[in-house]
Amino acid sequence: MRLIVAGSLLALVTGLTIATGSSRTQSAPVKNPTYAEHVAPLLNSRCVECHRPGEVGPFSLVGYENAKKRSSMIAAVTESRQMPPWKAVEGYGEFHDENRLSKEEIAMLDTWAKNGAPRGDAKKEPKAPEFSGEWSLGQPDKVISATQPFKLGAEGEDVYRNFVIDPGLTETKYVTAIDVKPGNAKIVHHVIAFLDPSDQGQKLAAKQNDGQEGYTSSGGGVGFIPRGALGGWAPGVRARNLPDGIGYKLSPGTKIIMQVHYHKSGKEESDLTRVGLYFADKPVEKECSIFWAANPIFRIPAGADNHRVRWDIPIPADLTAYWVMPHMHLLGKSMKAWIKKKDGTEVPLVHVDAWDFNWQLVYSLQKPLKVQAGSTLCVEAFYDNSKGNPNNPSNPPKAVTWGEETTDEMALLVLNYTRG
Ligand code: HEC
Repeated sequence: MRLIVAGSLLALVTGLTIATGSSRTQSAPVKNPTYAEHVAPLLNSRCVECHRPGEVGPFSLVGYENAKKRSSMIAAVTESRQMPPWKAVEGYGEFHDENRLSKEEIAMLDTWAKNGAPRGDAKKEPKAPEFSGEWSLGQPDKVISATQPFKLGAEGEDVYRNFVIDPGLTETKYVTAIDVKPGNAKIVHHVIAFLDPSDQGQKLAAKQNDGQEGYTSSGGGVGFIPRGALGGWAPGVRARNLPDGIGYKLSPGTKIIMQVHYHKSGKEESDLTRVGLYFADKPVEKECSIFWAANPIFRIPAGADNHRVRWDIPIPADLTAYWVMPHMHLLGKSMKAWIKKKDGTEVPLVHVDAWDFNWQLVYSLQKPLKVQAGSTLCVEAFYDNSKGNPNNPSNPPKAVTWGEETTDEMALLVLNYTRG
């Protein structure tokens, strides 16, 4: 079954990415790693962005005492590649801000934990990094937010809250970048800015009417297939401008749905997150659009633990892609996407082999990818709908098809592109 959902030219998203430098550093295994010389530099560059006071990580990993206390847990979550939360398989596509540990780094953390987390020479410990609270691309042309702080309960499931915001434009603008300032970094897990030209968000908010601004959705979606998006953010993400001459069209009247994925902290919290918009000051020749490469026709039988869904989408015109984002719900195990050229050669796009519903990242391509008309976008996804999947929302498992609810599934690869 071949299907393209809403793959037309619409206004769209900037580069989402996540944290810090590339990981190909150490080569020979370290025999007697110490905190001062080996562990601290690694935690400081890969972890403390999120694991420091007031940030989304559930505890601080700044300083020896904090790291020592969790040394075996650190070894375990890095070994399983749960942390850092970078899910794209190495060598399959190249992305900005890859935050992935090398085998040697993982082995070093393991040895350090097994040796009893030795400190080494405290005088050699690097200073904890400082993080700037400033907008990294300078003052935005427009800053949007909800009007009231959102109140989040202490415990329970994560919340996807959609704030419907009118940026109040009187003329069409082209957005070249967005940046996000979480109001309360302890609970803001990630943010995506969707576009809603036909006021669907407002209707959903009015229907839900739960006493707070916006509405809550399930499955990480916004309750409908949005026309486009302006990009997204997760901790560690660097705001990035689109290349000159390219922008996302934002027309007067189009609402922005600012979706905030909240992670509860154990205390009642509130948040007023701001999104900064940067507008093109030069003429824009090419509009950036979003391609929802979906296969809505599948059925995952109850109990199947490795169900494959595979779909192909013919590419009708030359285009250039800038980022990709795999999307599934709680049964997802893995997703792989590639371009098959007319001559049969394959170009890797992205491969997420240990899907984590909590970490739905946008992978920003290091080099924009030119795709010629006549190529095929190929996607393969696997799902675990067995009892053995601890995330399975249905017990006993039931047959699952496409839908918005967390108990439904999706087979969707989102990418952004320009024509030509
Ligand atoms: C982008 C933000 C981010 C980065 C970078 C990050 N973490 Fe985390 N970490 C989190 C969040 C959020 C959680 C809470 C669980 C979740 O959402 O997956 C977490 C949970 C953990 C846990 C607890 C896991 C559990 O099962 O309770 C450990 C241990 C941990 N991180 C260690 C690390 C280490 C070590 C690094 C660096 C190598 C790292 N993290 C990098 C955000 C981050």
